[in-house]
Amino acid sequence: MEDLNQIIEDARASFASVTTPADLENEKAKYLGKSGAITALLKNMSKLSHEEKRAFGAKINSAKQAVEKLLEERRQEFANEKMQKRLSSEAIDVTLAGRTVGMGGLHPVIRTWMRIEEIFRTIGFDVADGPEIETDWFSFTALNNPPNHPARSMQDTFYIDMKDETGKQMPLRPHTSPMQVRYARQNRPPIKVIAPGRTYRVDSDATHSPMFHQVEGLWIAEDISFADLKGVYVDFLRRFFETEDLIVRFRPSYFPFTEPSAEVDMMFTTGPRKGKWLEISGSGEVHPNVVRNFGLDPEKYIGFAFGSGLERLTMLRYGIDDLRLFFEGDLRFLKQFN
Ligand code: FA5
Ligand code: MG
Repeated sequence: MEDLNQIIEDARASFASVTTPADLENEKAKYLGKSGAITALLKNMSKLSHEEKRAFGAKINSAKQAVEKLLEERRQEFANEKMQKRLSSEAIDVTLAGRTVGMGGLHPVIRTWMRIEEIFRTIGFDVADGPEIETDWFSFTALNNPPNHPARSMQDTFYIDMKDETGKQMPLRPHTSPMQVRYARQNRPPIKVIAPGRTYRVDSDATHSPMFHQVEGLWIAEDISFADLKGVYVDFLRRFFETEDLIVRFRPSYFPFTEPSAEVDMMFTTGPRKGKWLEISGSGEVHPNVVRNFGLDPEKYIGFAFGSGLERLTMLRYGIDDLRLFFEGDLRFLKQFN
């Protein structure tokens, strides 16, 4: 009996003294292992009588369970210590500012593009899309440009090293007006369409960039007049700028593909250019020669077209004085629109 209590106390002391889980497992062998103290007692039982075996066996078993319990408790202590260390070394300081995922945002010119589509869709305009590498015919000839018109020249238009099927060098479209012809040849009147997209010119200053965006508008039916152009366009501007108080003028101008023609100017009401005019659009009644190139009879069909600059509209909306800011990718500038 003393033996058994002694073994339990020895085990308690030696389990308490070890400092690592590996040492603990070594100590365990001294009591419960093949040549451990308890195992030795069990072996000795063969010398006892049947009755003695029974009584002693039960005691050894409960001593064995006591040692196993001590062992398990110590193991648990080591496991807790380990967890505690891990928790404190991997601790999260909840008072620190979070590392946020960078949120993307829409470019201000794209916002303008989407607004324009939304507004024109509500008044029944279709939205069309077309190629940025165009043919000479759609870019110029179909739009009633004489063969030596300056727009064709290398000073204004980017050409790429590619020829169309007539052998003519292909331009990057310098305006969205080719879309008038492309769309009108595919759709029967009444034709009501806008065609927003990228356009390219050899141009660069505070109000011109080599790549910019235009939106072409075209309404062709039997009785669409210049008054309709003014009505639709001013209504669009009111909705785009969300104000009735626009300072806008239609200034007589010239385009080979419209007659009469006007350019539309608008005054800045905010920003460094406040009080100054900025041209936003070309426009006019579609020239009879162009209506003919639509495949339609100009005696029967008439209407208006316009081509407006998206960067210019965006400049006016936010009071921005230099459109090159749109293309510098400076987040300090771009973030202000989100
Ligand atoms: C044209 O491009 C004509 N195709 C517009 C038109 C369409 C007239 C239909 C009649 C009927 P213009 O060259 O003026 O016209 O350009 C139209 C608009 O595009 C300008 O008012 C301006 O807002 C914008 N724009 C032109 N060049 C640039 C440029 N380099 N950078 C930024 N915006 C430009
Ligand atoms: Mg112009």
